[in-house]
Amino acid sequence: MTDLAAFIRGLPKAELHLHVEGSLEPEQMFEFGRRNKVAIPFRSVEEVRKAYAFSNLQDFLDLCYQGANVLQTEEDFRDLALAYFARLHADGGRHAEMFFDPELHTSRGLPFSIAIDGLTAAMKEAEGIYGITSKLIMCFLRHLDETSSFETLKAAEPYLDRITGVGLDSSEKGHPPSKFARVFAAARERGLRIVAHAGEEGPPAYVQEALDSLHVERIDHGNRALEDAALVQRLVSDGVTLTVCPLSNLKLRVVADLKQHPMKRMLDLGLRATCNSDDPAYFGGYIGDNFIRAAEAVNLSRADLLQLARNSFTGSFLNKASIDRHLASIDAYAAFR
Ligand code: ADE
Ligand code: ZN
Repeated sequence: MTDLAAFIRGLPKAELHLHVEGSLEPEQMFEFGRRNKVAIPFRSVEEVRKAYAFSNLQDFLDLCYQGANVLQTEEDFRDLALAYFARLHADGGRHAEMFFDPELHTSRGLPFSIAIDGLTAAMKEAEGIYGITSKLIMCFLRHLDETSSFETLKAAEPYLDRITGVGLDSSEKGHPPSKFARVFAAARERGLRIVAHAGEEGPPAYVQEALDSLHVERIDHGNRALEDAALVQRLVSDGVTLTVCPLSNLKLRVVADLKQHPMKRMLDLGLRATCNSDDPAYFGGYIGDNFIRAAEAVNLSRADLLQLARNSFTGSFLNKASIDRHLASIDAYAAFR
């Protein structure tokens, strides 16, 4: 391992942008497919990996949503999340705020309880095995209508003690945040924390809308906010966390080359950027690889890396005492490395 890789893997960090369905490795796709007797339209793991060449977000979503069909039981969701936590632990992860897409599963006829029971079982186990804490964020699929999101919020009602927040994901273009203003208002009334994907493929106006119509506390991605100087100033002065995902941006062609990735620019502008994996099984790397590849591509300094790690805790939904404890562990790490 290079010095840079060793420094990064040892650095205490939180992951704030991870879709658990996007952590389904091809090997698990075959394993779950076999045990649930769900046919997979690929003959081998190699064939699956070869299919992971995307031109845009929609190309990826089509494959990812098809892959999720193998997830049928509570045990599948538990195994999926536990495998992710093992990877996170290997990368120095101490905390994760994990997205899941209930509508992807309820639309296939699974009861709402299956995903959440399996995921929360794994979250409890991960805390025991690795000392990793975690929170769940339920995302609404923005290509569906408001009715579906309201039905999902209703189905989640008995489980709200296990759900920290709501998010908005799937096809961004043509589905502005304002489409979901009412359901997000209802989620806020229930005490849920608010995040949304914005400015990944969609224009800066969608980032603005996520702030004004949904009252988000974090922006997932936010790359295209950089096109609007006034918006950047607002994000900086309000201290809004951006959950940036370098390898996802590369694979979905949000950037043509990692050397053009805005991570360094974001930090230099004073934006509260964090580094995350998004859908690691599909984009070729977990959080550690995202840090390493971004650091190499845009020359992130040791101070930048420490800032990214700090931002991951200050932007989390942990309480102040926990955040302070993690920040102290970063300071201690910096002092000895
Ligand atoms: N669902 C999973 N990954 C996503 C992404 N990067 N953007 C929108 N929806 C997603
Ligand atoms: Zn995402």
